[in-house]
Amino acid sequence: ARAALRASVQRCERACSAEMALKSLGNEGLFLFSSLDSNNDLYISPEEFKPIAEKLTGRYSPCKVSCEETPDPSGETLSIVAKFQPLLMETMTKSKDGFLGISHIALSGLRNWTTPAAPMSMMFARQFKAFLPPKNKRELGDPWWIIPSELNIFTGYLSNNRFYPPAPKGKEIVIHKLLSMFHPRPFVKTRFAPQGAVACIQAISEFYYVVAFRIHAEFQLNEPPDFPFWFSPGQFTGHIVLSKDSSHVRQFKLFVPNERSLNVDMEWLYGASESSNMEVDIGYLPQMELESSGPSIPSVIHDENGNVMDSRDPVGEPIQFVFEEINWQREISWEEAAQKLEVAMYPFKKVSYLPFTQAFDRAKAENKLVHSILLWGALDDQSCSGRTLRETVLESSPILALLNESFISSWSLVKELEELQRQNEFYSRLADLHLEKYNFPVEMMICLPNGTVIHHINANYFLDITSMKPEEVESSIFSFSTNFEDPSTATYLQFLKEGLQRAKRFLQT
Ligand SMILES: *[C@@H]1O[C@H](CO)[C@@H](O)[C@H](O)[C@H]1NC(C)=O
Ligand SMILES: *[C@@H]1O[C@H](CO)[C@@H](O)[C@H](O)[C@H]1NC(C)=O
Ligand SMILES: *[C@@H]1O[C@H](CO)[C@@H](O)[C@H](O)[C@H]1NC(C)=O
Repeated sequence: ARAALRASVQRCERACSAEMALKSLGNEGLFLFSSLDSNNDLYISPEEFKPIAEKLTGRYSPCKVSCEETPDPSGETLSIVAKFQPLLMETMTKSKDGFLGISHIALSGLRNWTTPAAPMSMMFARQFKAFLPPKNKRELGDPWWIIPSELNIFTGYLSNNRFYPPAPKGKEIVIHKLLSMFHPRPFVKTRFAPQGAVACIQAISEFYYVVAFRIHAEFQLNEPPDFPFWFSPGQFTGHIVLSKDSSHVRQFKLFVPNERSLNVDMEWLYGASESSNMEVDIGYLPQMELESSGPSIPSVIHDENGNVMDSRDPVGEPIQFVFEEINWQREISWEEAAQKLEVAMYPFKKVSYLPFTQAFDRAKAENKLVHSILLWGALDDQSCSGRTLRETVLESSPILALLNESFISSWSLVKELEELQRQNEFYSRLADLHLEKYNFPVEMMICLPNGTVIHHINANYFLDITSMKPEEVESSIFSFSTNFEDPSTATYLQFLKEGLQRAKRFLQT
């Protein structure tokens, strides 16, 4: 009881100080203040003030450069090259009305971002040690977390009201450094789940690994006095070929996949309130890539007698290095590795989600129903619309089991079906039937193999009827252990079962 009393006194004091802060700073001033006050104690520590100091003095504190890096004068170095093509503004939904009602300033950070912050960067091979597998993860395709997620249903989301990334620690440092080549303000931990970076071994030789990875990170494009603008690519993926002692990097590549028609989620604030003044949009980024320009090479070369040599031969030509050929003993395909990483990030993917046309072909062949999710933004990337759905119901085991047993699952973007309508006569009828039943932002549907939608539910409606208030969630922590089934899982099960019931008379074999 004393602890509770203390907590409530502290809460009271904080509320009081917050009120005083509001009085002295005004709404927008307080908003800016709290964007810097990362631990919410209403005091700005020197660490929290650092980004402002750097901005005002135009000088980066020496620590930023040297403390993070372990200099390795005897080790190997490699150069990483960044390629970047800016977001195509015309792919944003809000471009249709000419960005009507959107302040010019809100988009300034986005419009201004036309080149990578650092087109080339020299790195030590040893910095890539973070990509090596831990001792217990040396099997092909067995994923591990490079940066573990710190979010779960009880921690909720991280604040939108931040401008400057926290100082990266441990294995975050190399990823932060790599992403900084695109933009100076990368956040290696996203505000929303699934957060973090995951990796698995794709190939093994006697001395080398190929490690495939997938990173969920985002960028803050605006700075004070403007309001925050978050730019969240669907994912960063790629691979690294490195020696088992990380002294040599043969190859490194990181990229944002660009084969879907939309691959970036954007969210920005237009006022000093995180909850009410928020705009969202999605768009297409043609290219965001990092690649090593060649294998890592020693920065200092010794001759047979141990003397330091010039890295140019007597004629002045750079010394040519010859690299041993790597004989891979065991490997899995890139597709298989990518699939493992995807399931690690999204447990709901334990059931495969097929592309729209394949799903209906399969349903026809197996005489099953199609469980289809039609969205404005993508379900398996960072985009906002599928987020809530994915984090709750689609990952729960009773839903996974029922989907696996009785449905063929699929998800598609509205934009993709609109293209299908125009391009493919055979499938356009299926797309028509789907789009007829669609309501923004996400519609879940159950269809016969011929495309007839027999049951559907809108995600917003679904969330309304199943939403739990935070205090209810808190009090139900304890009931989870006593066979508690959360209301959204129960409702979704009911939705699927109702679909099966309605389909019964059509699906008789
Ligand atoms: C635009 O970019 C330039 C250089 O990259 C920078 O100096 C300027 O502050 C940026 N402007 C805005 C509004 O972000
Ligand atoms: C799906 O069903 C198959 C065969 O019935 C089974 O082997 C597999 O483990 C199931 N997967 C899930 C995620 O339930
Ligand atoms: C699909 O099949 C059902 C049952 O056979 C039928 O009632 C329905 O009209 C068909 N829909 C289309 C679009 O052909």
